[in-house]
Amino acid sequence: MSATLLHGKDLITFQEWTKQEINMVLDSAADLKRRFALNEAHRLLQDKTLFMMFFEQSTRTRNSMEAGMTQLGGHAHDLTPDKMQLSHGESAKDTAMVLSRMGHAIACRNCFYGIGNTYLRELAEHSAIPVLSLQDDLYHPMQVIADLMTIREYFGLDLKGLKVTISWAYATSHAKPLSVPLSQLLLFPRYGMDVTVAAPKEFPLYKDLIPVAEQNAAENGGKLRFTDDMDAAFEGAQIVIPKNWGGFGNYSFEEYNAGEEACRKEMKANLEKHRDWICDERRMKLADKDVKYMHALPADRGNEVTPGVIDSPAAIIYDEAENRLHTAKAVMALTMGGRP
Ligand code: CP
Repeated sequence: MSATLLHGKDLITFQEWTKQEINMVLDSAADLKRRFALNEAHRLLQDKTLFMMFFEQSTRTRNSMEAGMTQLGGHAHDLTPDKMQLSHGESAKDTAMVLSRMGHAIACRNCFYGIGNTYLRELAEHSAIPVLSLQDDLYHPMQVIADLMTIREYFGLDLKGLKVTISWAYATSHAKPLSVPLSQLLLFPRYGMDVTVAAPKEFPLYKDLIPVAEQNAAENGGKLRFTDDMDAAFEGAQIVIPKNWGGFGNYSFEEYNAGEEACRKEMKANLEKHRDWICDERRMKLADKDVKYMHALPADRGNEVTPGVIDSPAAIIYDEAENRLHTAKAVMALTMGGRP
């Protein structure tokens, strides 16, 4: 594969990238991590501009991208709808066409269920520069690539048969999008991992993507299993990733957007049935003795996970968060590198 093949490429989901391309990101991220540690200059995007549009709050994504652009010698604009004419209804097309004339990539977070991915794709359709997802309602590529980098650092490059449990967990903070577990479900089996997904029946993942994940597993020697038993899912797991997601998967996009208030009410009622879905010390003992605990963060301490787990040596959450920086820089350097 040509090293310059990624110049100009959009990143909406890694499902649309080959494994060779993904491996190029991982290799580049490892190199950028080394250069960052050595305080070695790596101004690969000198004088380039990234426009970041955040429809929702963010700590890791915003700061990994903005710090990353600074370290790469460029600049990131931190934009929110209230700062832009989006708030007066300016279209995705006009936004993309205009920003394309001024900079080198458009990055966007829009997690509204049934809206976010469509919005990003509309930006990409009209943009002459790469469109990079900062998370939508279905995908969070910048998170999952950092997860994969972290897993490789702890478990090596051959991940075939690695037992990973992605579990729903109770949380009161907010109904989190489906995009983190869906992205993990799609990507991990491509690296041969043995993935178990545990969730109460009221919290399914977006059903149209399950066959895609199953095909990824079949083509790459991975495995997928679904259960509604959190204990069973923890048994023997080498990695556990317990986090909340909202019950969006119960609704089609049309149903949800036609009756959002009623859906939210039902989701909240369903949530309260499952307060016992917490990652605690008892459940961690069911897993492999060297199990690692991962979480994309922010975590709802005391609801999703006990302090005794998230603050234990099994937790690799800060490595995972740090790798957001190195992987984000790799994606930006590889996709934004081509245009002067
Ligand atoms: N994991 C993650 O995307 O964090 P932020 O919402 O803080 O960006």
